[in-house]
Amino acid sequence: MGPDVSWKYYSVTLVIIFLNFINGIFHNKPCKHVHPKIHEVIHGVHIEPAHILKKRSIDQPLRILLYYDDSVYKLEEDKFELINNTVLPEAVSFWEKALMVRSTENVIRLNRKCENNQVFYRKGDWYSYCKNSCETRTLCGEVQVPEEHLDACRTCNASGMNCTNHDNAGTGIIGADFVFYVSAMETERCSKGQTVAYAAHCQQESALDRPIAGHANFCPNSISTKPQELAILLSTVKHEILHALGFSISLFAFYRDSEGNPLTPREDNGKPLQNTKLQTRQWSDRVIKTIIRKDWVVHNGTIEREVQVMVTPKVVKEVRNHFNCPELEGAELEDQGGEGTVLTHWEKRVFENEAMTGTHTQNPVYSSLTLALMEDTGWYTANYSMAQPLSWGKGLGCDFVMKSCKHWIDNKRSNQNTLPGLARKCNKIVKTDVKSYKLKMF
Ligand SMILES: *[C@@H]1O[C@H](CO)[C@@H](O)[C@H](O)[C@H]1NC(C)=O
Ligand SMILES: *[C@@H]1O[C@H](CO)[C@@H](O)[C@H](O)[C@H]1NC(C)=O
Ligand SMILES: *[C@@H]1O[C@H](CO)[C@@H](O)[C@H](O)[C@H]1NC(C)=O
Ligand SMILES: *[C@@H]1O[C@H](CO)[C@@H](O)[C@H](O)[C@H]1NC(C)=O
Ligand SMILES: *[C@@H]1O[C@H](CO)[C@@H](O)[C@H](O)[C@H]1NC(C)=O
Repeated sequence: MGPDVSWKYYSVTLVIIFLNFINGIFHNKPCKHVHPKIHEVIHGVHIEPAHILKKRSIDQPLRILLYYDDSVYKLEEDKFELINNTVLPEAVSFWEKALMVRSTENVIRLNRKCENNQVFYRKGDWYSYCKNSCETRTLCGEVQVPEEHLDACRTCNASGMNCTNHDNAGTGIIGADFVFYVSAMETERCSKGQTVAYAAHCQQESALDRPIAGHANFCPNSISTKPQELAILLSTVKHEILHALGFSISLFAFYRDSEGNPLTPREDNGKPLQNTKLQTRQWSDRVIKTIIRKDWVVHNGTIEREVQVMVTPKVVKEVRNHFNCPELEGAELEDQGGEGTVLTHWEKRVFENEAMTGTHTQNPVYSSLTLALMEDTGWYTANYSMAQPLSWGKGLGCDFVMKSCKHWIDNKRSNQNTLPGLARKCNKIVKTDVKSYKLKMF
């Protein structure tokens, strides 16, 4: 009986692997969140001082303003209607219901880009000043920020003196906590891979570093108006919005505790250290820890596997509870896929159909884990009634989440407990780059 069972086991596994492979080719659209580089993000937008903001409870529903670049109006009519009437309103209203922020004064005026990104800060002054001059245009992603959203140009001369306010402030953004500049341009990034949309933040406010402006670009040629693809498009747009709101390698170093204090120490300039290799700010191990998993069983022996784990408090509580594993250090982040996928998503092996993993699979869910992460930014509280249930791995214990899949399958098999479905859970296809797929047999 033994050999027969295992033959069936293997053939079922192979069929499932094959189906997954086919499925992978057609449906596993990878998210390439190309995070904004240090010089692409403008800091120091003054709304209110930190000592006032920190005291407010985080209880106001997030308000997102959409601003369309002209390119959006140039979309074919059916694509425009899909984006304007269905996709954006649903995606935006999802996060507006799911997230709350501190109330702030009603007007946000974004900072102007400085010539050569050279900025002065003056003691006792809330505002930042450009060295010599402000750029004539301030971009957010591909979109030019309209003059009416911009604060006055403030400059000092090259020695940081004779500072002036050029008195050309716009009316500002009224009644919103975050502004999204939406474009629809067939950019270079669109043609690489199967990108439908991408988004990132572009400005942060000065008191608590919350991102307050971002851009989202739709790739016109990749938008499908087929009804059966609507769910994927919607989930993708929600996913991209979340990168801009907080789940990004470019924002980890700015996360704060529940009192509003930084989780990563700051330099004299008030910002975390730069990581020149990743072109981002380096977070501390209060945000992400590197953990070595010893005795990681692979097909031909064992290896030591290094994993990156999100260790902020609510995330830790959430994953321990989900897997029923009280010793779990935190939630593992994606380690494959290169820039854009790595570290900016939950690990696929561990979280499968959570929507913030790096590739789209069927039935994506925004679970309480992702909401917990948003709370752990220190900028939001979450409405957990918006969380969608994640059944993957639920209650399966420490072995499922802390040991390799091979270890786990082997163990279950020796326990006479084999279920073909488990094989599917462990043998999966991951996309390692745009063109090649490989079996991940960990
Ligand atoms: C775009 O959507 C907004 C609100 O969802 C609506 O008021 C407006 O009429 C739409 N524009 C067009 C051209 O359909
Ligand atoms: C919380 O989510 C529920 C739906 O799950 C929604 O009805 C409610 O309005 C949300 N609360 C806030 C403050 O947005
Ligand atoms: C900046 O302005 C101050 C006077 O306000 C002047 O003394 C100084 O020379 C100026 N520096 C430069 C580089 O123009
Ligand atoms: C200070 O700057 C203004 C314009 O920015 C200029 O007109 C003025 O001459 C400068 N004053 C000095 C002392 O450099
Ligand atoms: C297992 O195989 C890989 C190549 O597939 C090789 O690099 C590695 O050294 C092998 N490990 C052991 C423990 O034999």
